[in-house]
Amino acid sequence: MKIRIFIVLLIFLASCGHIGETSTEVVTEKYNQAGEVALDRDGALLSETRFLNIAHRGASGHAPEHTLVSYQMGEEMNADYIEVDLQMTNDGTLVALHDEDISRTSGKEGAVKDFDIDEIKAIEVGSWFNEENPDLAKPIFNQIEVPTLDEVLETFGHDANYYIETKSPEIYPGMVEELLEVLHRHELIGEDIPEGQVIIQSFDKSSLLEVKDHEPSIPLIKLLNYRDEEAVLSEEELDEIKGYAVGIGVNHASLTKEFVEKVRREGLLIHPYTVNEKDDMERLISWGVTGIFTDYPDRLETMLENYRSRED
Ligand code: G3P
Ligand code: CA
Repeated sequence: MKIRIFIVLLIFLASCGHIGETSTEVVTEKYNQAGEVALDRDGALLSETRFLNIAHRGASGHAPEHTLVSYQMGEEMNADYIEVDLQMTNDGTLVALHDEDISRTSGKEGAVKDFDIDEIKAIEVGSWFNEENPDLAKPIFNQIEVPTLDEVLETFGHDANYYIETKSPEIYPGMVEELLEVLHRHELIGEDIPEGQVIIQSFDKSSLLEVKDHEPSIPLIKLLNYRDEEAVLSEEELDEIKGYAVGIGVNHASLTKEFVEKVRREGLLIHPYTVNEKDDMERLISWGVTGIFTDYPDRLETMLENYRSRED
């Protein structure tokens, strides 16, 4: 029944004309300033010469975040990755939600860890988007539920790439274990999948180390948030991150060209979040970042296509 509703939803969305918006802006370089990142989609996902378009919470500038609709729109907009933040219910089900508390996207009160999966499934998490974005509002968004990680992987299967964040693992005992079990169930771990089809990211180093301990083949990204400060990493800190992760995700406003170059020189990937304005995208690309988290993967993809279409 749920699958049928989803298919109807997709047909409805495809007919709405919001998918794949493009602009005709022409940008000036085919390669970023470091001269190393070919802005194409052909290389291996984690190659330093590949640029990654990461649909932050799905195409969450167009549809309610962390829903099958926003993930589907991310796919339609040619994002390389669906980004999925995880919380866990009190009966141990991993669900796609950004906040520990359900209030922001449901209007109800309470912590995810205090609900079981049936209670989480009973809330709707789309009408807030209609209220805040009347120009993008759709009646069907009023009926959207929280997807479980299982449902996300079942829906998009091996055709998609997943950039999964363990949110607040310190309050969810067994979170990493459950995540790895779900990934195994969907055959998304191991040598039979492309390297990087699943990336696990976290601000919490210990949960990344736990993943590495059990499944060293999964690439890890350490998230950093410098808030209002300028980003800084010492050689020792970079070495320490290189010991377990393939790269870092950083709040974009704290970045400087020098910081990006330093991280790249160390062979680490760098994925700024959450970059929605074209000027910021252009600047960060020119500095040499290797991917971008954005609520508007169509906007980023248009820019990348313009770079790609330039003659050598
Ligand atoms: O995971 C990268 C970025 O999403 C971190 O910020 O708060 O949107 O999860 P947040
Ligand atoms: Ca995230």
